[in-house]
Amino acid sequence: MCGIIGYVGPKRATPILLEGLKRLEYRGYDSAGVAVGLPGSLTVVKKTGKIAALRSVTPKELPGNWGIGHTRWATHGGVNDVNAHPHLDSSGKIAVVHNGIIENYRTLRGMLEHDGVVFKSDTDSEVIPNLIARYFEGDLEAAVKAALNHLEGTYGIAVVHADRPGEIVGARNGSPLVIGIGEGEMLLASDVTAMIAHTKQVVYLNDGEVVFIDAEGYRTTDRDDQPVRKQVDEVTWELNHIEKGDYPCYMEKEIFEQPESIARALSGRIERDIATAKLGGLNLDRRHLREVNRVRIIAAGTSWHAGLVGASLLESVARIPAQAELASELRYRNPVVEKDSLWFAVSQSGETADTLYAMREIKRKGGTVLGICNVVGSTIARESDGGVYVHSGPEIAVASTKAFTSQLAAFYLFTLFEARMRDLSQEEGKRFVEALESVPAAVAKVLAGRDEIQRIGKKYSKARDFLFLGRGLMYPIALEGALKLKEISYIHAEGYASGEIKHGPIALVSEEVPSVFIVPNDGLREKNISNMREIKARGGPIIAVGVEGDEEVASIADDFIATPRMDPRFYPFTMVVPLQLLAYFCALDLGRDVDQPRNLAKSVTVE
Ligand code: G6P
Repeated sequence: MCGIIGYVGPKRATPILLEGLKRLEYRGYDSAGVAVGLPGSLTVVKKTGKIAALRSVTPKELPGNWGIGHTRWATHGGVNDVNAHPHLDSSGKIAVVHNGIIENYRTLRGMLEHDGVVFKSDTDSEVIPNLIARYFEGDLEAAVKAALNHLEGTYGIAVVHADRPGEIVGARNGSPLVIGIGEGEMLLASDVTAMIAHTKQVVYLNDGEVVFIDAEGYRTTDRDDQPVRKQVDEVTWELNHIEKGDYPCYMEKEIFEQPESIARALSGRIERDIATAKLGGLNLDRRHLREVNRVRIIAAGTSWHAGLVGASLLESVARIPAQAELASELRYRNPVVEKDSLWFAVSQSGETADTLYAMREIKRKGGTVLGICNVVGSTIARESDGGVYVHSGPEIAVASTKAFTSQLAAFYLFTLFEARMRDLSQEEGKRFVEALESVPAAVAKVLAGRDEIQRIGKKYSKARDFLFLGRGLMYPIALEGALKLKEISYIHAEGYASGEIKHGPIALVSEEVPSVFIVPNDGLREKNISNMREIKARGGPIIAVGVEGDEEVASIADDFIATPRMDPRFYPFTMVVPLQLLAYFCALDLGRDVDQPRNLAKSVTVE
């Protein structure tokens, strides 16, 4: 949430800051700003709206070769130019950009007001530059450290001072910050996407660390001024991975990338001859993995839906009791952490605050937590005991698509691995492997049906409410379909277990409320068909996502989306894709901003 960028070097800072902010825009996009330094003064430009709005009011030839920038997702204080970052101290010499929440800001603000500071914004962040000003005696890094001692809450910050040309100080506690090492230039950002055009050499900061950068290099210390040695990592992906290419938006690109991204998640991880999976990053010995008696999965949003599929699969295929829970709920429940449980924290970004804090609480209680993350070097990936990178490549659209199917792939691999250590025979394992390896081609086949799904999207996009219904492994897919639709089209949608409709949701059914039924040819098909008839009898339109050749389902439905016939355990991959496309085409028809829907952000680093 909120994106931060800093640059110092020989070039003009403004274009680099604006370009970096554009790449960070998915983290928050209600307002943005930059502070660029000339010796003795700072120029600050802030604007409500997206980076394009900031760009339009930023002087083209703004001089200054060091500065900081911010794109905001509002927490404290409304969305307006004044509350946008950077915030200045009352002398106008110190500028700060902040991601996170300062929980004790009221106390600090009261204290500073008592000393005569006049605040301009309603934000929690404005206390930070004013606190730094209080301690500044010529050494910016020392003043930042002194100020940090007063802050409670979470922060990733970048700070500049007009009288310290070419210096930026950053600090992290709960909100990500990465250093970029260029040639004669240095950067600092919330994530590497903002810097990839300039460098691939990066250093990830940990909580409690402070960094000082100038054009020559960087030094990292803890808040007590003790030096901290850091490892330099190399980013392995290219700039074109975060560009739209020929697609009109990132979401469409990412949906259509799924055959390759799923194949990448599986690549090198299947041992065909013994029909099992090879997951090098788990960091746990076989005996430990064999003795797991329960799997518990924590996550948020779409990642939670992947966790629900994973739990169901682990239970039915590997015969390990498994549950997936919302991290935001679990962390406040004082969870029991049993000795023989294995935990998974699932997160595309690896930064979601609730998932991260829940993971820390479980680890504190002695639990073993594996991460299933996409972003390499993210906090959850680094702090977990081991895990699986899903390798979907950067996911930029706020609504998650390709990361979801890759998270599924990680769960299928882990399930295969555990099942083969338990009761799944080599023969059954082979069938599982064959079905798993057939997924990318099957997804490609579903994607080829885009025109028909676009037609259906257009037909129903004016509906105000939708129901998404499924059973078994398709229940989480129904939840995901409903989430996708509401996220990007703003149409109200509810995902329900089909068996539950008569306990309430059926009251909503009318000619105006379409129901999307997800009906594979599994053991629950007949039950689903009965539920479809119940809806039909009450005049509700039905869109069915089913299996090619299923005439009965097609004949009950008003609209039918055919997907390839699969081993029933693998339908989550193929049946979620039409729902992603349906949401996408409804949103497109309504003229929504598909990649950056209102009020949302991709990486939710506040609770
Ligand atoms: C935000 C995003 C969702 C995502 C959720 C969890 O709400 O908009 O797309 O599913 O966070 O994010 P994570 O990075 O932990 O998977």
